[in-house]
Amino acid sequence: MTEKTELERYGRPMYMDEKPKDPIHARIGSKKECKNWDAEAALRMLQNNIDPNVALVPDELIVYGGAGRAARNWREYNKIVACLKNLKCDETLCVQSGKPVYIAQTHPDAPRVVIANSNIVPKWSTQAKFNKLDRAGLMMYGQMTAGSWIYIGTQGILQGTYETFAALARKHFGTDSLRGKWVLTAGLGGMSGAQPLAVTMNEGVCLVVESRKERIEQKNREGYIDVIAPNLNLAITLTLCAAMYKKPLSIGICGNAAEIHQELLRRGHIPDIVTDQTSAHDLASYYPLGDLAELDILRVKDCTEYEKRALDAIVKHASAMLEMQKRGAIVFDYGNNLRAQAELGGLTIRDEDGKYLYPGFVPAYIRPLFCEGKGPFRWALLSGKAEELRIIDDELLKTFPHDEMLHRWIKKAQEKVPIIGLPTRVCWLGYGDRAKFGHVLNDLVRSGKVSAPIVIGRDHLDCGSVASPDRETEGMLDGSDAVSDWPLLNFALNGICGASWVSFHNGGGVGIGNSQHAGMVIVADGTTLRDRRIERVLTVDPGMGVVRHVDSGEDIARQTAKDKHILIPGVTC
Ligand SMILES: NC(=O)c1ccc[n+]([C@@H]2O[C@H](COP(=O)([O-])OP(=O)(O)OC[C@H]3O[C@@H](n4cnc5c(N)ncnc54)[C@H](O)[C@@H]3O)[C@@H](O)[C@H]2O)c1
Repeated sequence: MTEKTELERYGRPMYMDEKPKDPIHARIGSKKECKNWDAEAALRMLQNNIDPNVALVPDELIVYGGAGRAARNWREYNKIVACLKNLKCDETLCVQSGKPVYIAQTHPDAPRVVIANSNIVPKWSTQAKFNKLDRAGLMMYGQMTAGSWIYIGTQGILQGTYETFAALARKHFGTDSLRGKWVLTAGLGGMSGAQPLAVTMNEGVCLVVESRKERIEQKNREGYIDVIAPNLNLAITLTLCAAMYKKPLSIGICGNAAEIHQELLRRGHIPDIVTDQTSAHDLASYYPLGDLAELDILRVKDCTEYEKRALDAIVKHASAMLEMQKRGAIVFDYGNNLRAQAELGGLTIRDEDGKYLYPGFVPAYIRPLFCEGKGPFRWALLSGKAEELRIIDDELLKTFPHDEMLHRWIKKAQEKVPIIGLPTRVCWLGYGDRAKFGHVLNDLVRSGKVSAPIVIGRDHLDCGSVASPDRETEGMLDGSDAVSDWPLLNFALNGICGASWVSFHNGGGVGIGNSQHAGMVIVADGTTLRDRRIERVLTVDPGMGVVRHVDSGEDIARQTAKDKHILIPGVTC
């Protein structure tokens, strides 16, 4: 395929001719093909990210979140694989937006890989500038865990989504359950696909609008959504009946949220709760109204016109949500920047004081957890053995016998979460507990109860690793929403403390210029030497989260810092 044809088809050079012939799956088991386990883990996690069962569009290296990629193109992917296979235990591979650029001579305790994705000097950090660089083959969109090789499929966001809905139920209905309530949302992609299962796990009913039929079918196959409604009438009947009889049920309907939400309003159906997780952060990934095949062609041929139509649809979509709120629905933003895009399209979405008319999920439900250093801690088993996941689950519950939220989650996850790609688990753990459990994981590898090293990581959506004024840091008490010194400190500290790989990105779930965030991974290889690195990394990483929230004036964070003896000049020392 010529470069011109690739530009027309994919909007960027992809070097499709160099794509490996066989589908990519991570190697499993206790034999490594790299020279050390950190490089081996990075390689397997990169491959797991683009496993056809895990990734959104594996042929284009797209993992999730619109166009979130694992490598810039197939040529660079092959180079990364070759570098990792040869990487020595005193070398560090530097990856610049999906391209390996330098093998630095470092030392054994340093990260084996350092990744920077989609970063642009602030004044130039716009989607238009990024698109130009992307088209010229100079950058890629790394999303959060796509370009930092720690995506674990839809499960990665499932517990967070489940806990968000549970917190909503507690706050608005005074119970732990959404029994008899119905949620309207849209998007059934990589992350958004967690929504229906998270709602039914909370005993509620969920109606999800998704433009692409095959995405609904995939999530139905994977067990994330219960039924596919053939038309809107049936979708509404199923939703209302399930809510009336207080039966948990999730229903997918193929269509455009901008159209279906307006139609629901016209018919007078007001949900109890409304949110959204279409990929609105990236206008080129949000579907305007019209025929999908034609729109896919328009996106590549005339992106400006496509984005204009996407904005028009977003305005319709968000105005329907505002109207539903006026008519009694609880509405919240679910981290895809729909509100800011609607504002860009001309919709009034703030009050006179400049506050959004409906809140983001972090200030509304999640921030108290961040204040305790809690966030989406996760692990992946390089052994590939599902039964070993159960062994770890049991150890987790034994380690934290009094954490009711955790016990409830693990029980539901064992029942409902399918294993896709490498066996993985996510759970929200706080300061102190992450390090404690990191040691348990390393012990399990050391004793041979788990037969190969375990990859420990987290989402960038965490307590101390992100600055995102429309999401994780919306409405900080001291007005420091846009200060991105924090994720930079987090990135540096994790590197210094000996994470296996670290990353720093721009954009994430809310789009270029709207957030900066850091990732970290530490591999439990069962060695005694690794115990020290696990202790250091898994302490400072959530530690930065507590400190960030103490600094912005949160009482819970201040108490956590005191209780856990975290040294904060002028506060605890
Ligand atoms: N909890 C969080 O804050 C959080 C976590 C992860 C992702 N996100 C954000 O949520 C969004 C979705 O993430 P993802 O990984 O699922 O993305 P994705 O690209 O995998 O899926 C988005 C889905 O939305 C569908 N869609 C697009 N326009 C639509 C429309 N007008 N009507 C109906 N469906 C439409 C697409 O077909 C696609 O299947 C992104 O913006 C992402 O950044 C938020």
